[in-house]
Amino acid sequence: MIVAPSLFAADASYFGDAIRQVEKAGAQYLHIDVMDNAFVPNLSFGPNIVSGLRPHSTLYFDVHLMIKNPEILVTPFIEAGADCITIHLEATEKIDAIRSVCRKHQVDFGLALCPDTPIDAVRPWVDDLDLLLIMSIFPGLGGQPFLENAIGRIREAVELRRATRGHYRISVDGGINDKTGTLCKEAGADILVAGTYVFNTKDVAKRIASLL
Ligand code: DX5
Ligand code: ZN
Repeated sequence: MIVAPSLFAADASYFGDAIRQVEKAGAQYLHIDVMDNAFVPNLSFGPNIVSGLRPHSTLYFDVHLMIKNPEILVTPFIEAGADCITIHLEATEKIDAIRSVCRKHQVDFGLALCPDTPIDAVRPWVDDLDLLLIMSIFPGLGGQPFLENAIGRIREAVELRRATRGHYRISVDGGINDKTGTLCKEAGADILVAGTYVFNTKDVAKRIASLL
């Protein structure tokens, strides 16, 4: 299992320490949530945070853009050091153009789906998609309870991948802990994104181990 701790839940005065700690504990990805107060009712990180952290970590930077019209910011986030750019299917008409930018820079390309968007909506892009991010909460805030319908949606994503011979990794984001993480793993998820569960504790390594 790949574990992607979500930086949004870490103490902002210790981001450097937090990423070193999760890397040492066996996390492979760092999930970086970007919010614009338009697609979601909250604000978070810009490319400066990504470029600031980049020299301090070899983790795979999994940048989750919860922003309207992400095409404007894709290149700045790539130049800042993203390894994967994940955009919301609901946020733009320019999905093909964004994927081309990712391919040009040899950066992975992901699509995220809100809990009420059908999994089948990604079908036009499955032949060239690296990551499918299934939201198990409505995006915008950490610490929300896991929405159980995500389990059936993970299974649908596994089935779609099989039927279309796609290669995308299936990631789940929101309300992940040891129990919900196990359910997601059993349903076929490849990546668990976890914020509150990983960082809201004194023993970060133990929480990561329980997800791995
Ligand atoms: C929410 C973000 C999530 C969030 C997860 O909009 O996309 O990545 O940080 O937080 P927890 O694990 O606390 O639900
Ligand atoms: Zn996220």
